[in-house]
Amino acid sequence: MALIAPSMLSADFLNLQRDIEMINNSEADWFHLDVMDGRFVPNISYGMPIIKQMKKVAQKTFDVHLMIVEPEKYFEEFKKAGADYLTIHYETGFHIHRSLTTIRALGMKAGLSINPHTPVAMVKDIIHEIDLLLIMSINPGFGGQKFLPLTYRKIREAKQLITEAGASTLIEIDGGVTLENAADIVAAGTDVLVAGNTVFSSSDPAETIKKLKQAGK
Ligand code: DX5
Ligand code: ZN
Repeated sequence: MALIAPSMLSADFLNLQRDIEMINNSEADWFHLDVMDGRFVPNISYGMPIIKQMKKVAQKTFDVHLMIVEPEKYFEEFKKAGADYLTIHYETGFHIHRSLTTIRALGMKAGLSINPHTPVAMVKDIIHEIDLLLIMSINPGFGGQKFLPLTYRKIREAKQLITEAGASTLIEIDGGVTLENAADIVAAGTDVLVAGNTVFSSSDPAETIKKLKQAGK
């Protein structure tokens, strides 16, 4: 059974506390928090001040997904804001090994994300430094996009790479996860499902989270 991480990008920001409490009381496992800078991705979302406020009412793990250039400038600030998992993008770094090591040294779990064009093989030599491998199943920047089918192969490749290395890296899938494809995504080897639009545009978000949780059981 996969962990469920609702993406707060699709939450109602005028009723953020209500949506956070809905997740507290649901079967969701983590909060997925998307930070965008308008440079790495063509959109700007929210940053540390909002995350810090959310932390006051949220009762589950904070899975912070940084879609920003030069993320290493802000590791300490995201730790202070409440990040439990801090994920950076492979495509943003000259020194990914150093960044992952620094994130762990600050007391967070280290996440690495790859865009659709980045092969899974690129993370092979640093797999033991990665607590969470976030495979993007859309081009990052916006919620509500369609799942890219090439992701299934990447999940299987990642699973094999992790197993062969004897690593304990979790595989997370982000983008276009629906009630229809969740079971197939989990069956391919996914440990954590991110879902924004599917959860927050449904008439009963807590029930949708429950259904996602049951997928692939
Ligand atoms: C997009 C973000 C995702 C996004 C997913 O760049 O990384 O977390 O919120 O949204 P859905 O689940 O709607 O595709
Ligand atoms: Zn995300």
